[in-house]
Amino acid sequence: MGQTDFKIMRYSIAWLTDLHLNFVGLREVEVLCNAIRESGVDSVLITGDIATSDNLCRYLDFLADHLRNQIYFVLGNHDYYGSSIQKIDFEVGGRTMANRNLIWLSRADDLIELTPATCLIGHEGLADGRLGDPTGSQVDLNDYHRIKELIQPTKDLRLAAQNKLGDEAAAWLKSQLAEALKYYRNIIVALHVPPFAEACWHEGKNTDDNYLPHFGCKATGDVLRSAMLAHPDVSMTVYCGHGHSVGYAEILPNLKVFTGGAKYYYPCITGIIELDQISKK
Ligand SMILES: [Fe+2]
Ligand SMILES: [Fe+2]
Repeated sequence: MGQTDFKIMRYSIAWLTDLHLNFVGLREVEVLCNAIRESGVDSVLITGDIATSDNLCRYLDFLADHLRNQIYFVLGNHDYYGSSIQKIDFEVGGRTMANRNLIWLSRADDLIELTPATCLIGHEGLADGRLGDPTGSQVDLNDYHRIKELIQPTKDLRLAAQNKLGDEAAAWLKSQLAEALKYYRNIIVALHVPPFAEACWHEGKNTDDNYLPHFGCKATGDVLRSAMLAHPDVSMTVYCGHGHSVGYAEILPNLKVFTGGAKYYYPCITGIIELDQISKK
């Protein structure tokens, strides 16, 4: 067979995380949209912390209006600040029904096929309070004062609420993977919170046990790890954020995690993900 027997097409995705658009004006968001358009990507992936509850839907609308691509996204803990998970999920569900370019991964009806070999799944996967030292940790995040479901009278009840969120995310990923593993040899997973301690970074080092309960989600990691152990022929790449510190972790030979960095007031493209589509000419 000669060199021209195959055609290689490239599918590219602009990955953005922790934009926190509530800290900037619409002019800056427009500049960001221009940069995405100029990058010539096929689609956009946002891994949470887009804004806060009072302006999240306005920014989702703005992004959809200013980008012609499909926008795949999950929410982050900050997107719920000032409200409840139940209320924001309802509102965001309405926005995605009204705009076909906005695709909320944790509510997607079907698997998202990016190329014939690659699919995309995702979930918020908020911190489930299980990694590190949850009972000993004295860390008190704004999450526990600004998200209704996490405002609890005791630490035990708050941890129980976090455990429940983690379990819901894990159940969703498990059901999506059951289908994805039948048809695809590459799986991209979008999460807000890193699913492994090894993927939680702080200034180039792994997060310590005091902060890990708030910066990782064990339940989602357990599901991803066991799926990849059972399917060594399939590759999984996870994209996440939350800690605002950049890092890369190889959990298994077929399970890799990119954690995106971020800076308040400077929303930008975290990276361009490129996938090859190879077909016979
Ligand atoms: Fe963030
Ligand atoms: Fe976050």
